[in-house]
Amino acid sequence: MRLLVTGGCGFIASTFLRQALGRAEVERLVNVDALTYSGRRENVRELEGDARFRNVELDICDAEGVERLVREERPDAVINFAAESHVDRSLFAARRFVRTNIEGTLCLLEAARGLQLDSGRQVKFVQVSTDEVYGDLEDDGGAFREDTPLDPRNPYSSTKAGGDLLALAFARTHGLWLVVTRASNNYGARQFPEKLIPLMITNALEDKPLPVYGDGKNVRDWLWVDDHCEGVWAALQRGQAGQVYNFGGASERENITIVKAILAELGKPESLIRFVGDRPGHDRRYAIDFSRATAQLGWRPAMQFEEGLRRTVAWYVENQAWWRPLRDASFEDYYRQHYGRLGLKA
Ligand code: TYD
Repeated sequence: MRLLVTGGCGFIASTFLRQALGRAEVERLVNVDALTYSGRRENVRELEGDARFRNVELDICDAEGVERLVREERPDAVINFAAESHVDRSLFAARRFVRTNIEGTLCLLEAARGLQLDSGRQVKFVQVSTDEVYGDLEDDGGAFREDTPLDPRNPYSSTKAGGDLLALAFARTHGLWLVVTRASNNYGARQFPEKLIPLMITNALEDKPLPVYGDGKNVRDWLWVDDHCEGVWAALQRGQAGQVYNFGGASERENITIVKAILAELGKPESLIRFVGDRPGHDRRYAIDFSRATAQLGWRPAMQFEEGLRRTVAWYVENQAWWRPLRDASFEDYYRQHYGRLGLKA
C-alpha cells in the first residue's frame, strides 16, 4: 500500500506513521505537514532513515502543491489527520480553523478525486475527526453514536463538522471510497503542551500553577493515542465505504481527577491547582459509544487509563528536551493574551 498521511509531524499522526512503518504491507509512506506551531520535525526524525518514508513540508490548503504531490506519489489511500485542534485557540483565531479544517480537507478530497479519475483505480480516503462534532452531553448518562445529530458548539468542532460533511458529500457525489473516524480526547507521548494532560504535567514539573477551568468536573473520555491509530488503520482496512466510526477509550474521567492523579504521580502538592474561571461555551461531558467499531472493525481500546497516564507522565519526565523549548516566549505570550481574552485569572 502507498499511503499519504497529513499532519504527521503532530501528536496523533506521528504515532500513526510510526505504527505504519511497522506494517509489511506499507510500501510507501508520505507525510505532508505544514509545520505550524504544533508540528515538529523531530517527531518523525527516527522514521527518516526508512527508504519507504518521505517527509514533505506543505500546507494542505496549497491546492496546486497537494495535487502535484498526489499525482507524483499516486497513493492508494489518503489519511487526513492535519487539523487545527485546540478549542481555546479556535475561540479567537477561527479563520485559521476554517482554512485548515475545511479548505484543507477540500484540497485533499479534490486531489484524491483527480487521481481516481486519472488512474481509473480506487483511491481511499480517511477523514480523521473528533467526537466534539456531536456537541455536549449532560452529566446523567448517554453517549455519542454515529447517528447522533451533529451539534458542534465551538469554532474548532464546527470546522471539523464542516470538513466531515464535505468529505461525506464527496463520497456520495464523486464515488470516493471514504470513511470518517471520530475519536474522543487522545493522550500519550508527544502531545503539544497546550492540551490538558501535557499542560498539567509540564506546569507541575516547573512548579507552575495548574489552571483548571470551571469546577473541574467536566468529563472527557480519554483514548490512548496508539489505540486510536490502530482504529484508523482498522477503518482503512476493514471499514465500509461511506461510514462513520467512533473510537472511545472507555475511560471517562473528570478533569480534576486527572489533575490530582498527575500531581500524585509527580509527588507535587495539590496547592498548585488554580481554579481560573471557565472556558466560554465549555462542553460539559463527552462520552462515546464505539460499538460499531467493535462490531465492524473488531476494534476496542486496549490501554487502561491509569496505566496510560503513568506512561504519559513518565514520557514527559524523561523527554524534557522535547517539551522545554516549546514553552518559550511565544508560548508564554499566548497564555498571557489568552487568559486576558477569556477573562480568566492567570
Ligand atoms: P483540552 O485538552 O483543551 O481538550 P478539549 O477541550 O478538546 O476536550 O481540554 C480537556 C478538558 O480540560 C476540557 O474540559 C477543558 C479542560 N482544561 C482545563 O481545565 N484547563 C486547561 O488549561 C485546559 C487546556 C483544558
